[in-house]
Amino acid sequence: MDKGELVAKAISAMNNAYVKYSKFKVGAALLTKSGKIYTGCNIENSSYSATICAERVAFTKAISEGARDFLAIAIVNSSSEFAYPCGICRQFMSEFGIDLKVIISNGKETKEHSLKELLPYAFTEFMPTDE
Ligand code: THU
Repeated sequence: MDKGELVAKAISAMNNAYVKYSKFKVGAALLTKSGKIYTGCNIENSSYSATICAERVAFTKAISEGARDFLAIAIVNSSSEFAYPCGICRQFMSEFGIDLKVIISNGKETKEHSLKELLPYAFTEFMPTDE
């Protein structure tokens, strides 16, 4: 996996962020096991809670195009700090694999975690067993 390329794709997606309210741009690039990359940016809304994060945009694009198996996601933002994915995005991403590698960039350096580290004791639905 070319980490630099993934971060670069996240940065170019970040430039499309629609951040009328927070002015805080986020970009994400999601790498599938087959090598495809899906990008996303945050898209805000005047009804604030209708805002969608960059990570979930990347995932919804990928899932809706038939991708299911993911290796890594790179996440960047317009500040010079490391910004970690929000709780909703952690839960959303965990649906598709808790071993996902999460690469966070502050524009200079990167940090890497597994999603499992960022979302310990993740919720999963336990299907009732037939008795
Ligand atoms: N945001 C993301 O895109 N990803 C996150 O994981 C955290 C927050 C966006 C949502 C909103 O547009 C802005 O950052 C400020 O919260």
